[in-house]
Amino acid sequence: MKPNKEIFIEQLPKVELHAHINGSLSNETLCKLSQLKYGTDAKHTEKYHLLTKMDLIDAFEKFKYAHELTDTPEAVALATECVIRDFSDDNVVYVELRSTPRSTMKMTKDEYIMAVIDTILKMKSQLPSILVKLIVSINRRESIESAEENGSLASKYAKLHPNIVCGVDLSGDPASKKFSDFEPILAKARETGLKLALHCGEIDDQDEISAMLKFGMHRLGHGTFIKGENEEILLKNNEIALECCLTSNLLCGVVPTYSDHHFWRFYKNGHPVVICTDDFGVFSTSLSKELQIASDTFNLSSDDLIKLSRGAIDCSFASDDEKPIVHGKIDSFAKDAIGF
Ligand code: IMP
Ligand code: ZN
Repeated sequence: MKPNKEIFIEQLPKVELHAHINGSLSNETLCKLSQLKYGTDAKHTEKYHLLTKMDLIDAFEKFKYAHELTDTPEAVALATECVIRDFSDDNVVYVELRSTPRSTMKMTKDEYIMAVIDTILKMKSQLPSILVKLIVSINRRESIESAEENGSLASKYAKLHPNIVCGVDLSGDPASKKFSDFEPILAKARETGLKLALHCGEIDDQDEISAMLKFGMHRLGHGTFIKGENEEILLKNNEIALECCLTSNLLCGVVPTYSDHHFWRFYKNGHPVVICTDDFGVFSTSLSKELQIASDTFNLSSDDLIKLSRGAIDCSFASDDEKPIVHGKIDSFAKDAIGF
């Protein structure tokens, strides 16, 4: 029999704020995509065995493989649908997916983003219990021209689908181009009303972290190497929530053990912190597993976990009309969960 805490966490209405679509493809989803691309006798998924130990380079290899499979609007739609279903199966009631619009021989960036949005709209009627939003990613590795395109696409589709497209993300290899190269594009996106959820402090570059904190953002992804003065600045600015991805950081070797994770430093100081999966397919995890790890490692009670879910929706890019709906689900769960 499962321990009570595990059942509690599985049933808790959860909120996911940091999930890359192409990193959130389960092995089952990869098989489906492989069959869509290569037919039923495909052996291609053999390339994609889940590793228990990896670094950022291995992770980026896995993204390359996922990208090979999601090279048509049909495949992007299937990937998006599977990701939404997997989150919903884990009792995630609100998710902000993020993805980098990509053009291939068979798809334009517009078609990519439309495939994602159309699928989110379709899933609204099929899975009404989960509210899904989209954050458009800009990849640091791409050219500035390509980043500008993504910024413009984010603004264009936010106007067309204001209830879905809510923000812009800066991600990709943190050791490639500098933040300052993307600053004008991000500033423009912010001016048009888009929220910013930026990967920051994934490597030890205190000057860049300082520049990013000065620029400001609504939420900060990872923040693994935020130290000293920069940590003090972030802690003072209670407005910037931290998205913590425990297993992603552990498997990429940037934190030695779960108990060393910086989640605890910020959490115990009362800073807004959200537990997220990052890439549940790549790191073989789920939001329930991440909350279980947080609970076991940092001795969080059921009440603390409910508060984390409530805090996450407060930090989300949901509208003022949507937030009370999600809070309502957490409230009614909390009322029934007194026995846990
Ligand atoms: P996509 O944007 O849906 O294609 O999702 C995969 C992409 O997300 C990768 O190619 C990276 O650009 C980005 N990504 C996923 N995880 C990380 C991370 O931990 N750090 C930086 N970028 C990431
Ligand atoms: Zn990420």
